[in-house]
Amino acid sequence: MTASTLIIKDLHVAIDGKEILKGVNLEIKGGEFHAIMGPNGTGKSTLSAAIMGHPKYEVTSGSIELDGEDVLEMEVDERARAGLFLAMQYPSEISGVTNADFLRSSINSRREEGNEISLMKFIREMDSKMDLLEMDQDMAQRYLNEGFSGGEKKRNEILQLMMIKPKIAILDEIDSGLDIDALKVVAEGINEMRGESFGCLMITHYQRLLNYITPDHVHVMMEGRIVKSGGAELAHRLEAEGYDWIKQELGIEDETVSQ
Ligand SMILES: Nc1ncnc2c1ncn2[C@@H]1O[C@H](COP(=O)(O)OP(=O)(O)OP(=O)(O)O)[C@@H](O)[C@H]1O
Ligand SMILES: [Mg+2]
Repeated sequence: MTASTLIIKDLHVAIDGKEILKGVNLEIKGGEFHAIMGPNGTGKSTLSAAIMGHPKYEVTSGSIELDGEDVLEMEVDERARAGLFLAMQYPSEISGVTNADFLRSSINSRREEGNEISLMKFIREMDSKMDLLEMDQDMAQRYLNEGFSGGEKKRNEILQLMMIKPKIAILDEIDSGLDIDALKVVAEGINEMRGESFGCLMITHYQRLLNYITPDHVHVMMEGRIVKSGGAELAHRLEAEGYDWIKQELGIEDETVSQ
């Protein structure tokens, strides 16, 4: 499989007529791990929702392309089939659909008709990924995320990631609510995905996730745009010094998108 590229150019996004993203530029290639950090309310989750095509988020200008294809022209399910994946900050519960059924149909929707994954192969793979993520086997037969604890939901997002094997994944605060051991397990799962055919964007507030998953690029979001980019050392500096030095450097008074 050749490496994929997601290219976001000058993206502007509005919600209910209010502009939230004000010109985001970002390029993620297969093989690369990116992290986006930034204070609360600066547009990080909005970016992930816009990439996946959440109907409430209106792209007013700019472009998103995956391997030269116009993502903004695609419906949400087409984006998933094209190889985009989002682990949401707050995963939703879907009653009546078991975890296993959801996973199997997600995998099959990305395959050609007649080339569906066999039940045996599916179960074997799911069992081994669940083992790696230290998940209870009976989670497979429970309804999707229903009654899952915060940490169980996050592990389950990574189970989906590992089973669906997208080209580009966006993980929105995958570390929030995880205990120390679970954080390691989840990081191990994400690191397993490393390879030329997989690119990843991690949205996080803390260096602790990046201690386990070293990013190639770190970006800082303020005022609905990426205001600074660097390598892994940028996240270390943010952990030590916070965001004030960036605001001073760039003359930003209010970093949120509220104004
Ligand atoms: N569906 C929505 N309806 C109204 N306002 C929204 C909606 N989604 C986002 N916003 C607003 O857009 C701004 C950016 O929100 P967003 O969730 O992107 O921030 P964030 O950077 O992910 O913050 P956090 O670090 O707290 O998760 C906020 O002011 C938020 O209230
Ligand atoms: Mg958010």
